[in-house]
Amino acid sequence: MYRDVFSMVDRVHHMLSRVVSSGDVVVDATAGRGNDTLFLAQLVGELGKVWAFDIQEEACAITREKLAQEHITWANVVCANHDRLAAYVQTPIKAGIFNLGYLPGANHQMITKGETTLAALQGMMELLLPEGIIILVCYLGHDGGRCEYDMICELSESLPAANWCVEECRLLNKRLAPRIIVIKKLDN
Ligand SMILES: C[S@@+](CC[C@H](N)C(=O)[O-])C[C@H]1O[C@@H](n2cnc3c(N)ncnc32)[C@H](O)[C@@H]1O
Repeated sequence: MYRDVFSMVDRVHHMLSRVVSSGDVVVDATAGRGNDTLFLAQLVGELGKVWAFDIQEEACAITREKLAQEHITWANVVCANHDRLAAYVQTPIKAGIFNLGYLPGANHQMITKGETTLAALQGMMELLLPEGIIILVCYLGHDGGRCEYDMICELSESLPAANWCVEECRLLNKRLAPRIIVIKKLDN
């Protein structure tokens, strides 16, 4: 177990709320239990649109139910691998989030993997508007988590600083605590 200075979820939602506003189009690449999808849907409001992806029917059902309870009709929950993002989303987006890993309490084999995460991330970066952000919450404690994180870091570190700003938040004294990577597209 670890404790963070501020809750990671609060920190991520705070960052999203600084960037996303009414009418924006945004993507949740890993819908899971729908918490991030719901938060994004509330930020963009009925004039906006949320695209949410998950490979598990169970996660999509939970997310759709969560949205329905709040009478949200402007979020599309797609049961598909997020590396197929471009087949569904063709408009520019203001923000995207990847909360990586597995669905808590479900099959731990249904987990995000470096190759597909990277393909989805690159697709999302192509759609990202200037001043838009992509947030990745990376977990290092499970099999493949460290490798996935390393792949994301390698891509992030290769981005030209004139066009992209990349930041990492992590607990320095807790090796396996989740790490947040934020990729911002600069307006130039
Ligand atoms: C940590 S959970 C996401 C938590 C979620 N954002 C929330 O607010 O509850 C990770 C999710 O990623 C999904 N997932 C794993 N690989 C995926 C892939 N290739 N494409 C889309 N979703 C994937 C899992 O099924 C799981 O539901």
